[in-house]
Amino acid sequence: MIHITRRERFSAAHKLAKDEWSDEQNMEVFGKCSNPNWHGHNYILWVTVKGEPQPSTGFVVDLSALGDVIKEKVIAKLDHKNINLDVDFMKGQMSSTENIAIAIWNQIEKPVAELGAQLHSVKLQETENNYVEYFGN
Ligand code: NI
Repeated sequence: MIHITRRERFSAAHKLAKDEWSDEQNMEVFGKCSNPNWHGHNYILWVTVKGEPQPSTGFVVDLSALGDVIKEKVIAKLDHKNINLDVDFMKGQMSSTENIAIAIWNQIEKPVAELGAQLHSVKLQETENNYVEYFGN
């Protein structure tokens, strides 16, 4: 079993705030990400899949096909979008890095399996100092 990782990037706007709270309460809990007039991040996404190298190619998975899956299912929906308002798979959820990573997993788990590999992890970096990793449970 070997792991292989594809990196993609996207830029998106979001806001972490509860409508029923005051701006001050939101700032206390969510910090700068609660800014009422939105703000953006340059996200970096690492998708790791695993499997056995196929005897004929030596590859676990065709990396450009994996890149196409990530671009179609994730990047095209998030890049230069407002995560709270524009992204179908984030509707009704707080746009935390944790929730985005879980949603990305759910978007690509099946298409990755259809490529013949198994999804191992989704790692998502929101800022230089913070990233989350999700392993499917
Ligand atoms: Ni933020």
